[in-house]
Amino acid sequence: MKAERTPDLATSTPSEGRPDLTGAGAPSGRPDLAGIDFAQSPFLVIWEVTRACDLACLHCRAEAVTNRNPLELSTEQGKRLMDDVRRFGRPLFVLTGGDPLKRPDVVELVEYGASIGLRMAMTPSGTPLMTEPVLRDLKAAGLSRLAVSLDGSSADIHDAFRGVEGSWAWTIRMLEVAREIGLTTQVNTTVSMHNLDDFDALCDLMVQLGITLWSVFFLVPTGRAKSGDVASADEFESVFHRMYDLSQTAPFDIKSTAGPQYRRVILQRQVAERRAGDRTAAVTPLTAGVGFSLADGVGRAKGVNDGDGFVFVSHVGAIYPSGFLPLAAGNVRKDDIVDVYRNAPLFVELRDRTRLKGKCGVCEYRDVCGGSRARAYAVSGDYMESEPFCAHVPARWQRMVDAGEAEPVAEYFERRGLTDRSLPVIDDGVPAQGRAARGQPPAGGQMPSATAT
Ligand SMILES: C[S@@+](CC[C@H](N)C(=O)[O-])C[C@H]1O[C@@H](n2cnc3c(N)ncnc32)[C@H](O)[C@@H]1O
Ligand code: SF4
Repeated sequence: MKAERTPDLATSTPSEGRPDLTGAGAPSGRPDLAGIDFAQSPFLVIWEVTRACDLACLHCRAEAVTNRNPLELSTEQGKRLMDDVRRFGRPLFVLTGGDPLKRPDVVELVEYGASIGLRMAMTPSGTPLMTEPVLRDLKAAGLSRLAVSLDGSSADIHDAFRGVEGSWAWTIRMLEVAREIGLTTQVNTTVSMHNLDDFDALCDLMVQLGITLWSVFFLVPTGRAKSGDVASADEFESVFHRMYDLSQTAPFDIKSTAGPQYRRVILQRQVAERRAGDRTAAVTPLTAGVGFSLADGVGRAKGVNDGDGFVFVSHVGAIYPSGFLPLAAGNVRKDDIVDVYRNAPLFVELRDRTRLKGKCGVCEYRDVCGGSRARAYAVSGDYMESEPFCAHVPARWQRMVDAGEAEPVAEYFERRGLTDRSLPVIDDGVPAQGRAARGQPPAGGQMPSATAT
C-alpha cells in the first residue's frame, strides 16, 4: 500500500485541495483552518516516539514503562515518517510519549521536522531530564511549542496523579524556563475524579503561568485509566461551563481534548448570550474558544475528532485514529500514512458522522462535536457508538423517544452496557444502587481494554 512519495510540497497551494496552514491564503493572515478538508489532511499528527517514561501516572494511556522498546521506530524511520507527513501540507506535528526525552535523538528529530517545514511541538514529562540547556537546544532546533502536563494546582495533587514526588515542581520550573527563553507553552490537564474538586484552583493557576493554550483532557478509560476514575456526564458538563467562563477573560486560549462536547457547550452559551442581547458577534465555531491560538503560529482547528483531522503513530509505527483509540489501520513501516489516513476503512468510517449511533447520530451538534470516539470505543468496544459521557439530549432524539421510536437515554446506555457512572456499570452484574457512592470504581476495575496494535 506504500504510495510513491510526492516530491515537493512547498509548491502546493490551497487551490490544490491541501490545507494552507501558513496563513498566506487567509485574508486575516490566520491559517485557513476552516478550509482544511479533513478527509484529505489531518490538522494534527502525533508520533509517540517512545513509551519509556520516568513517571508512573495512574491514568497513562500508553502504560508507560521505564525502558525503551527495541522495536521503536528508529531515527531514520522517524525522519521518513516526517517526510511522508509533510505530504499532507503543514500539519502540527507533535512528539509525544512516554517521555520523548528518553530518546537521545529528540533534538535531531525536532530539527529535521522543522527543516522540512513541519510545525513541531513536544510533550515532555515533568522530570529532571528536562533542563535549561535541553530547552534551549529544542528552541534552537525549531520547536514551536512546548506542551507539559499539570494535573493539580498543588504538588500533592499532581504528584499523586503522576506517581512521582517532585513532578509538579519540575513541571512549573520547565514552564518558567520556557517562558524566559521565549518558547511558547501549552498546559495539558487531565480531568478525572482525582482532581475534579481542584478545577477552580487550576483555573487560577493557569492565569499565572503565561501559557498560550490550556488543553483540558477528559479521561478516557484506556491503558491504565479506570472507568471509575472518569467523571460523570454532569461533572463533564460543569467543567465545560467553567472552561467557557474562564475563556471570556483568560489571556490564553482554551480547548478540550477527548471532550468534543465542549464545542457544543460553546455554541449553546453563545446562542444563549445572543438571545439575551449580551452578544453581538456571530455565533460560529470559529470564534474565540473554539477558534485560534496563534501567538506562535501554531493555531488549531475546529471539529477535530479521532481519525478526523487527527492521526497518531505509536512507538512501533502503528497508525491509530488517536492515542486513546488504539485500533491500528496500518503501520508506517509498510504502509503509507497518507494513504491510510485518507482511505483506510476505519478512518473513512470515523469521518462519516452520519454513521454515528444513538443520540450522537441525530444530534444537532454532530458536526462540531460527534462525541469522543475513543471513549465510546473504550466503554463499548464500538467506536461509532454514542458518547456515554454527554449530558445533552438532542431535540430529535427526544422527539423520537416521545414517538416511541427510541429509548430514553438512560435506558439506551443501560441496555448496551454503557455507563457514565451514574448508570449501571457493565461487566460485573452489580446494579447501580450497589455502588451509588460517587467515585467508587466498578467491581473489576478497568473497562474492556483496547490493546490492538
Ligand atoms: C500521553 S501523555 C504523553 C506526554 C507526557 N508523558 C505527559 O504526561 O504529558 C499526553 C497527555 O495525555 C494525557 N493522558 C494520558 N492518559 C490519558 C487517558 N487515559 N485519558 C485522558 N488523557 C490521558 C496525559 O495526562 C497528558 O496530558
Ligand atoms: S449527543 Fe453526541 S454529538 Fe450531541 S453533543 Fe452529545 S456527544 Fe456531542
